[in-house]
Amino acid sequence: MSEQDRVQAIYDEFAKTYDEHYSADSFKEEDVELFKILSPWVRGTVLDLGCGTGLTLAYNQVAKEDYLGIDPSEGMLSKHASKFPGYSLVQSTFEEWDKAQPEAKYDTILGLYGAPSYFDKESYARVLERLSPKGHYFLMFYKPGYFPAHIYTPEDIEAAKERIDYDLINSTFENTFIFTSYLVATNIPKEYLPIGNKA
Ligand SMILES: C[S@@+](CC[C@H](N)C(=O)[O-])C[C@H]1O[C@@H](n2cnc3c(N)ncnc32)[C@H](O)[C@@H]1O
Repeated sequence: MSEQDRVQAIYDEFAKTYDEHYSADSFKEEDVELFKILSPWVRGTVLDLGCGTGLTLAYNQVAKEDYLGIDPSEGMLSKHASKFPGYSLVQSTFEEWDKAQPEAKYDTILGLYGAPSYFDKESYARVLERLSPKGHYFLMFYKPGYFPAHIYTPEDIEAAKERIDYDLINSTFENTFIFTSYLVATNIPKEYLPIGNKA
């Protein structure tokens, strides 16, 4: 089984309890803080990478025709589809989708709560190729040293840490800052971010 297949199997299983797990008050407070920063920049067409069960749509008004969610986990996508019927979803990794559909551009590109941590590092720069000229991106990688240990074995965590390239994140993307357990890479201007320093 490839590492990506293993990640998909883990999320297919976690999908059954994902929303219940993240309904705790502490996570909701984290969401509210996140979308205070992010929501003013969620505009136009939205590409939601690793969209999971649809958190973006729970906190933002996005028209059906303006939204595309990409995720390799069928379990996560079926929860998304039942909560937000009629929104377009593609079951795929970002990397595979990007190769299959290399032209489309989006005004907003999101990768929330760790989703970009699973991308091949070769695909980081592809996110920028998908952005329309005045568009904004907001990618939340797990911060250095953090991985959601409750769903992974120690071996998974070691493999995943090997994959995330923090130097490349800092050199590829415009601004980075730490938000709770995440290293956010974004082109939202620094003055609108809670912390302007590089990780
Ligand atoms: C921690 S969840 C976050 C889900 C959602 N963004 C949220 O904030 O609730 C990470 C998601 O990334 C997806 N994922 C894993 N590998 C991926 C890849 N290569 N491309 C796109 N999404 C991926 C997983 O299936 C999972 O749904």
